Amino acid sequence: MNNDNPFSFLLPFPEVIPSRIDRHIKRHLSALKGQFFDTQAYDLLLSQQDQLIYEVYEIHRPEVAGELLLGISIVHPGKVGVEFFMTKGHFHTVLDTAEIYYVLKGEGFMVMETPEGNCAIEKLSPGRVLYVPPRWAHRSVCTSRQEDLVTFFAYPANAGHDYGTIEQRGFRKLILENKNGIEIIDNPNWLK
Ligand SMILES: [Fe+2]
Repeated sequence: MNNDNPFSFLLPFPEVIPSRIDRHIKRHLSALKGQFFDTQAYDLLLSQQDQLIYEVYEIHRPEVAGELLLGISIVHPGKVGVEFFMTKGHFHTVLDTAEIYYVLKGEGFMVMETPEGNCAIEKLSPGRVLYVPPRWAHRSVCTSRQEDLVTFFAYPANAGHDYGTIEQRGFRKLILENKNGIEIIDNPNWLK
């Protein structure tokens, strides 16, 4: 394919699988080791099955400034103990790069924080557009009971992914389900 030519693709409802896919990433439970706060529940679930937690369909572009990377993220419904399925979450390696999400399907939240400790949580529901400013780490959490959380995303192609910082210390906020419903709590294991 000539990278200099414009292109379009379909995002057909209700399947929302793009008609053009260059890369399909699948993240299973084993890839999120250490991310869920209830390690006993995690180990038990993993011993039963290494479930598919989320998938990303990417359109490939050169990873240079001026280009955009775009695709579809699908977080499947489910919980580890009382904590909802979620993406690994990341800072961009080039911290001063933003990202846009458009929610196509499902319900959930985007959990965000800056290196300085500012936290934000935005509701995700069909039709909502979320702007993640530069410097904010971001993680999608699916709170639907049965439906996938599906978002379209776009971000600068030179941004890169820093997963390591979140793998080491986690996010400051967690999204759980207790008997009263969905609850946002401070992460008891943050930075441990
Ligand atoms: Fe990102």
